[in-house]
Amino acid sequence: MNDFDSQCRACPRLAGFLKQIRQERPDYFARPVPAFGDPRPRLLIVGLAPGMHGANRTGRPFTGDYAGVLLYQTLYDLGLASDAVSKHVGDGLRLRGVRITNAVKCLPPQNKPETSEIRQCNGFLKAEIKTLPDDCRLLALGRIAHDAVLRAYGLKLSSLVFAHGATHPLPDGRWLTDSYHCSRYNTQTRRLTPAMFATVMKQAIGEP
Ligand code: URA
Repeated sequence: MNDFDSQCRACPRLAGFLKQIRQERPDYFARPVPAFGDPRPRLLIVGLAPGMHGANRTGRPFTGDYAGVLLYQTLYDLGLASDAVSKHVGDGLRLRGVRITNAVKCLPPQNKPETSEIRQCNGFLKAEIKTLPDDCRLLALGRIAHDAVLRAYGLKLSSLVFAHGATHPLPDGRWLTDSYHCSRYNTQTRRLTPAMFATVMKQAIGEP
């Protein structure tokens, strides 16, 4: 299986939703959103799914809505991105040693993918993980991303418990670090602060 299909229509609910959005908002990307960043990364960041007015509008993960603000700022602060703000696909932003992908590539209604959709899309994540260098580490943003990584490895979801700041060994010798998702809700309520996110990001790339 390929790690991405820009024409994928495997989930009828999501394909129908995107079709409706393309009609209502012809200026929106409104298609499966590809991963962005280094093709040979040392860190794969796994998000949830495109946001309506962010990745679904611009075509780049975490770009154009609030969810990406802390993510790209933190990557920039750690020297992993060429700019602190991801504006649009033509802005020239480059990631250094980092790639950002989503557990579900299509925008789900109400930001909530169904379990069948997460399962269906998981083949892409599994294939993407196979393309990574052996020493690449993973950072899951939120429980759904954490579970998607476990699924991609064929692990029982109960085998590794999601916890912000936890780092888990994976069967192929890689490491998975968990973070709360950098959503507007989590950052504005300070469940996830910039300091917490910088710490977990450094942990994920294996810095002491
Ligand atoms: N945008 C994304 O691309 N992924 C998320 O998880 C949230 C917003």
